[in-house]
Amino acid sequence: MRRAAHQLYDAPPLVFEDPVAVRILGPEYLPEVERTRFKLHKPHSVALRAFLVARSRYAEDLLARAVAHGVTQYVLLGAGLDTFAHRNPHPNLHVFEVDRAATQQWKHELLAANNIATPDSLTYVPVDFEHQQLATQLAEAGHDATRPTFFAWLGVVPYLTAAAFRSTLSLIVSSPPGSGIVMDYGQPRHALPPLEQLAHDSLASRVQLAGEPFQLFFTPHEMACELAHFRNIEDLGSKELNARYFANRNDNLKLLGSVGRIVSAWV
Ligand SMILES: C[S@@+](CC[C@H](N)C(=O)[O-])C[C@H]1O[C@@H](n2cnc3c(N)ncnc32)[C@H](O)[C@@H]1O
Repeated sequence: MRRAAHQLYDAPPLVFEDPVAVRILGPEYLPEVERTRFKLHKPHSVALRAFLVARSRYAEDLLARAVAHGVTQYVLLGAGLDTFAHRNPHPNLHVFEVDRAATQQWKHELLAANNIATPDSLTYVPVDFEHQQLATQLAEAGHDATRPTFFAWLGVVPYLTAAAFRSTLSLIVSSPPGSGIVMDYGQPRHALPPLEQLAHDSLASRVQLAGEPFQLFFTPHEMACELAHFRNIEDLGSKELNARYFANRNDNLKLLGSVGRIVSAWV
């Protein structure tokens, strides 16, 4: 919905072009975006939207770089309603969407209801990171673990246990050289200034009500330790992301605060 709102309400040039984000919502969910249009202009809502579009833009920028260096497999971990597979501009890139079966079922229904076809270059891989072996499920779906892969793990890490996070990361770090990962993560409440702790509490209670509570946070130092076996780590906060993607805009679209960060790393 926030990626759709970016297409509909933010001033051009868009940070992240994603017309399918509007189409996939269709008559069932698009009215909700329109109904909450006023709320979407409040500062914290604008900042959250900026974070979400920045992380997708950054992921697809890095993916394009990986493809230019020969990567032919893109694995979206916790794909949700990501629409990249339906906009894939890279002719030799195969996309694997990993998610819980129930989320994938909901997405299938939305795609079908809104006449969005599934391209041949897309394979769905039902996996629950907490209870299933990602490597086995990916192999069964046709993923070639001997060839470099770019992984995106957007909006998922805070919902995981540390054990599920580490076992997935160890699979990625054992991928062939040229493989990479992009993910976002949140800083723990104690690392935030008081006003941001309130914003953090409000978002945490919203996702808890939605049945998917936050449970995993890292400081940048802790994340650097988790990624110790990767190389070329780039860990970006609001300041760096605003400079890269939101400078010289005519609207208020930009990140605020320090809770959310986006990190990439290579094998
Ligand atoms: C906030 S959504 C983010 C979706 C998408 N990556 C994006 O950027 O819009 C979180 C996604 O993680 C998935 N997810 C959460 N926990 C999971 C788990 N244990 N195993 C597999 N997927 C999980 C959810 O089903 C959902 O699709």
